[in-house]
Amino acid sequence: MRVIILESAADIAVQAGNIFVELLKEKPDAVLGLATGATPVPTYKYLIDCYNKGKVSFKDAVSFNLDEYIGLNKEHPNSYYFFMMDMLFSHVNMRKDMIHVPNGVAEDIEKECRDYDALIEQFGGIDVQLLGIGTNGHIGFNEPSDAFSEGTYVTDLTKSTIESNKIYFPNGDMPTKAITMGIGSIMKAKKVILISTGHSKAKAIKAMIEGEVTPSCPASILQKHSDAVIFLDRDAASLLA
Ligand code: GLP
Repeated sequence: MRVIILESAADIAVQAGNIFVELLKEKPDAVLGLATGATPVPTYKYLIDCYNKGKVSFKDAVSFNLDEYIGLNKEHPNSYYFFMMDMLFSHVNMRKDMIHVPNGVAEDIEKECRDYDALIEQFGGIDVQLLGIGTNGHIGFNEPSDAFSEGTYVTDLTKSTIESNKIYFPNGDMPTKAITMGIGSIMKAKKVILISTGHSKAKAIKAMIEGEVTPSCPASILQKHSDAVIFLDRDAASLLA
C-alpha cells in the first residue's frame, strides 16, 4: 500500500485522474473501475477537462461501477447510474453500451450479481479501480462485518452509512439495501486507487492503513493488494502516526 499525502482535493484529482489518462493512452480499451460519492467528483471534472483538451479518449474504454442502490432505476436522480452519467459519462466519448453499473431493479438480483462478475471477467478484469471510503471504513457498499465478501452481492446498509448518505434523499426515502461488487471483486483489480479527503474520514483512514486487516474495517484488506495507492489530503491523514 503506497500512501501519498497531498495539499488539496484538487491535487488528488489531478494525480488520480492522470493514472486513468496514462492508462487509456497505453491501453485505449482499458477496463475502468469507477466509484460514486462526493470524493471522486473533482477527479471526474479533471478527466472531462482532459477530454475537452484532447488529452484522453474514452472511445474504446469499458467501465464497471462498484455499486447501486436496490430499488432505484437508471432514471432515478439518486441512482448511481444517473450520477455517473451526470458527473462523467455524458461529458466524454464513452460508448453507452460499455458503461456498466449493477442493476438495482433487476428481476433476478442473484443472477444480476453473478452476471456482473462474469462480465468483468469477460472483459479481462478491471485495470484500475477507483475507490472512496465510508466513515465506517466501507468500500463500495461492503459494510463492516464478520467476514470479507467475495463477488458481487446484495447487502443491507448500516445505520452509519444511511446517516452519511441520507442528505441526498431529502424526502426520507433512502434505500436500505444495495448491490455492490464484493471485496473479492475489488481485490482482483490490477491496480486500486483509494482517494479520501476531510476530517470525517480520518478515523477510517487510520484503521485502514495502521490497523489490522479485519472485515470490521473492510478497506483494511487493501494492505494485502499488490498495487494499491492511497491519495489523502492532510485532514484525512491527520490521525496517521
Ligand atoms: C457511498 C459509496 C462509496 C463511497 C462512499 C463515500 O457509500 N457506496 O463508494 O466511497 O459513499 O462517499 P463520499 O465520497 O461522498 O464521502
